[in-house]
Amino acid sequence: MLGSGFIARFYADSLHAQRRVDRIHRVYSRTLANAKRFCEDYQLDGYTDNMEEAINHPDTDVVLIALPNHQHLEAVLASAKAGKPVLCTKPLGRNAEEAKAMLDAVESAGVFAGYLEDLCYTPKFLKAVKSVEQGNLGRILWTKSREAHPGPHSDWFWNKEFSGGGAIIDLGCHCVEISRNFIGKQHKPMEVMCWADTQVHPIDAEDHAIGLVRFANGAIGQFEVSWTFRGGMDLRDEVMGTEGTIWLNSFLRTGFEMFTTGLGASYVAEKSESNSGWLFPVGDEAHELGYPHMFTDMFDALEKGTEPRETFYDGYVVNAILDAAFLSAKSKQWEPVLLEDWRGEAPGNAGSHFREHDADHWLIKQEILPNGDVKLILKNKLTGAITQQLQ
Ligand SMILES: NC(=O)c1ccc[n+]([C@@H]2O[C@H](COP(=O)([O-])OP(=O)(O)OC[C@H]3O[C@@H](n4cnc5c(N)ncnc54)[C@H](O)[C@@H]3O)[C@@H](O)[C@H]2O)c1
Repeated sequence: MLGSGFIARFYADSLHAQRRVDRIHRVYSRTLANAKRFCEDYQLDGYTDNMEEAINHPDTDVVLIALPNHQHLEAVLASAKAGKPVLCTKPLGRNAEEAKAMLDAVESAGVFAGYLEDLCYTPKFLKAVKSVEQGNLGRILWTKSREAHPGPHSDWFWNKEFSGGGAIIDLGCHCVEISRNFIGKQHKPMEVMCWADTQVHPIDAEDHAIGLVRFANGAIGQFEVSWTFRGGMDLRDEVMGTEGTIWLNSFLRTGFEMFTTGLGASYVAEKSESNSGWLFPVGDEAHELGYPHMFTDMFDALEKGTEPRETFYDGYVVNAILDAAFLSAKSKQWEPVLLEDWRGEAPGNAGSHFREHDADHWLIKQEILPNGDVKLILKNKLTGAITQQLQ
């Protein structure tokens, strides 16, 4: 484990939970005292403040990167050099250039690599994606993913140089990958329109942004990210298809509502702003956030020699989309997503998706009226005339 902070603890809690067999053996942290504390808390074999030593240790089978964004590249390069499989937290890079360097390093070294995008592994997300893949929603037209909270928990996130940006890089990476999963990763992200501003905090980076990603098949992925939201952590997704709709609420409303005067004053859930009054706790937080399913997929893939659901290539595509979002926020124009390495379908003609009523007409709409009549709205294929008729 590289890092001993917030996400390292979530990962360790998930990996060492219940009767799971995978174990963290060793931890690297920049500060020996933090490494020691983490080592003791999780009963590991050892700790160090030397990253190379942790990676190259003979007991290290897999490197898990839980370091600040500006340290991902160095850690991935060192893991690839050591020939060790590597799992890296989100965002993969601070930008696409860094992400591409990481992708190239693991691919040329031939080491297994997984992108730890936990929100694409929550139980309800996995089920929702499966429903979409089974065709239950028809053709996906629009997705919306929202992640908003009152701001991150460590200094480096707020420093653009270390983080690569504000809410867009920190939270937008989740939202964009959620959209790609629903819309289909084979569809090329073409361009991005984004508004971003620094509305509240005295920082150089944006603390609030809204963006639209247009995909080659015509679908739109919307992201809403904020470090200014009050009231906890808002994680919501919506999917709209020609045949159906999905709404997911992954954190603030999970079916657990509680009132307390605050007597216990205990931890409620990540980014919860209060521990009194009406509260919305989360049962098994790691599970609701996707960590156990994520690690199961990663280690299964590693053992089977297959690819995990979320790869370094996905991390690279996400970074390329976010690069375009940053550019668009400045230029106030649609900005192209620059992907020097595109592995999905070539952008082509999306084709006609109209529903035929008969040889001469397209069906625009069918509706049952309050009086029980069934009304059809039709368009003549030849003349273009729009008419209505009762069935
Ligand atoms: N849902 C998620 O997947 C999720 C959630 C939170 C954070 N993250 C990601 O995890 C990574 C770490 O975030 P965190 O929340 O654990 O941060 P954190 O500040 O809580 O922990 C970072 C760790 O890295 C160490 N560190 C800090 N600066 C360092 C430096 N310059 N050199 C070496 N070590 C340094 C810290 O001591 C600590 O051990 C980030 O990339 C972040 O985006 C992912």
